Amino acid sequence: MNDQIKARLKRTIILSAIALAIGAGVGIFQVNSRPAQNGEVQAMAGVKIGGPFTLTDMNGGVVTEKSYGGQYKLIYFGFTMCPVICPTGLQKIAKALDKAGPAAERVQPVFITIDPERDTPDTLKQYVKQFHPRLVGLTGTKTDIERVEKSYHVYASKAQDESATDYLIDHSTFTYFIDPDGNLLSLYKDDDTADFMADDIRKKIQ
Ligand code: NI
Repeated sequence: MNDQIKARLKRTIILSAIALAIGAGVGIFQVNSRPAQNGEVQAMAGVKIGGPFTLTDMNGGVVTEKSYGGQYKLIYFGFTMCPVICPTGLQKIAKALDKAGPAAERVQPVFITIDPERDTPDTLKQYVKQFHPRLVGLTGTKTDIERVEKSYHVYASKAQDESATDYLIDHSTFTYFIDPDGNLLSLYKDDDTADFMADDIRKKIQ
């Protein structure tokens, strides 16, 4: 990793933590300094993050937070042209579901794009199947996406040094584990492992 990428990644991590801390009403210090093993899981559990949304699925249909009724959800925000971060995060989600055993059947994995300009339903459809057979991709209008980013306290910012058509987006990389009633059960960080996530998912679904 070159220094420029490292610096950008560090900035993104800090800004993500700030966006989340403001949303959750907890101190930035807490978010940054807690050990990875407990991640945000304990401190954030029960905190109201997320909420209703209306988006477009990869078949062009309208979906809301109620569309996967009765299912738990694992939600990840990103964009299909993301070179490393999103593929790594989505692979980890797939691995965690594989490891979670029967509990995984009660979990709907969801990828929500932060790049609605380029991520059409069809682009998402081609993309998500590379990671997990049940992963769904959601997009929407710019306003739809801004709204959902806001309610999940997602940090997303187009990298300024990119041209208008070939840009990257710096973004937060949390995975949101939501119960069937829409409550946040866990918030997994970049450095939470697939094993950790699988254990946590199993415990919380019991
Ligand atoms: Ni990404």
